Amino acid sequence: MRVWVEDVHRHVESEVTLRGWLYGRRSSGKLHFLQLRDGTGTIQCVVFVKDVAPEVFERAGHVAQESSIEVTGTVRADARSPLGFELAVKDVRVVQEATDYPITPKEHGPAFLLDHRHLWLRSSRQHAIMRVRASVVRACRDYFDSRGFTLIDAPIFTPAACEGTTTLFEVGYFDDKAYLTQSGQLYMEAAAMAFGKAYCFGPTFRAEKSKTRRHLTEFWMIEPEVAFADLDDDMALAEDFLVEVVGRVVGERAAELALLERDTTLLAKVQKPFPRVSYEEALALLASKDKPVAFGDDLGADEETVLSEQFDRPVMVHRYPAASKAFYMKQDPADARLALCVDVLAPEGYGEIIGGGQREDDLAALEARIQAHGLPEEAFRWYLDLRRYGSVPHAGFGMGIERMVAWLCGLHHVRETIPFPRMLERLTP
Ligand code: 4AD
Ligand code: MG
Repeated sequence: MRVWVEDVHRHVESEVTLRGWLYGRRSSGKLHFLQLRDGTGTIQCVVFVKDVAPEVFERAGHVAQESSIEVTGTVRADARSPLGFELAVKDVRVVQEATDYPITPKEHGPAFLLDHRHLWLRSSRQHAIMRVRASVVRACRDYFDSRGFTLIDAPIFTPAACEGTTTLFEVGYFDDKAYLTQSGQLYMEAAAMAFGKAYCFGPTFRAEKSKTRRHLTEFWMIEPEVAFADLDDDMALAEDFLVEVVGRVVGERAAELALLERDTTLLAKVQKPFPRVSYEEALALLASKDKPVAFGDDLGADEETVLSEQFDRPVMVHRYPAASKAFYMKQDPADARLALCVDVLAPEGYGEIIGGGQREDDLAALEARIQAHGLPEEAFRWYLDLRRYGSVPHAGFGMGIERMVAWLCGLHHVRETIPFPRMLERLTP
């Protein structure tokens, strides 16, 4: 009977067949220890010379790393093995013999590994990261699904910019041109007016011309939007969401985080309330740490790191200068220089993981912003309708899945958090 490695505990002392790949092998005279990996786990298969035909013993001693194999034997409980079980082998069949698998136990550089990303995904570290990613996605969706938000998918082809014209990917669209979406937000605003609470989750694209450890050209974003909500409501939602998602993933993926040597005591500190710091308070804090920033300048990665290091949990920086922010942000009625926006910075120098805020809900003010930003008015006509027909205060945010995974896993670079990263100089595999 064919079983998956993760299910062998249900077949102790029974004969089973496992199908997978040879992860590694150790031999000592009369014994070969084959590590069989099938994606759900890895099990040690013990081939004893007296238990198998001579040609099977010979085969087991030569089959190369990452060859695909089928192994039949009896499941034995074994307290010494990490899995708690091993297989006493009766037969080994080779499905396809691999030769010279390029990723060996020696150290490889990041460029080599990224070139072999299609194979690198088989390694235990990458496996752990992808499982954390899958849990993050599920936890995010469950959070909104269980709170009355409707999932509304946003389009990928869009007629205009949402997050500034400098990072747009242009694509041919029959006789016209289109842009790959930078954010589903504008469509979520339409969805919020139709459903009250909505969210989207999908790939987003930015022609980021800089090489940093936080930027991809294709990344996945979850974006909730809520009608009749202001900036304070938005911050409360972001805080509650992060606490829940971090808690769930740490609980679900303890084994994977341990394999990644992540110190989860730091993640256990992600509890309410998160500190709320205005942009101007942030400037004062930065000046006191010898990192002066002039009013009006955006906070760079260095400044975000210094700020986040002052706190043991995510910090919410709100009310940035409107001039450096997107056209749709609502001005602060208390200070026209500022926008009612928020960035959530992760601890330990991971930087911005969430960006959001309250949207401009006044038709005339929004029209003026679209003009001032030199955006094509024609492409935004539909968006302005939302301010014509029952406009209400509303707010939302976007969280980049890759930055979240990098932080949770304690990874230096976001390139390991997505199965096939797309960056300035990388479009393959
Ligand atoms: O701050 P951003 O640009 O905000 C928006 O796009 C809003 N329209 C979202 C909204 O309010 N609905 O991006 C939001 C998040 C960032 O905080 C970051 O986590 C991630 O998206 N992000 C990136 N992740 C990887 N690579 C990039 N190039 C990213 N750009 C943004
Ligand atoms: Mg941002």
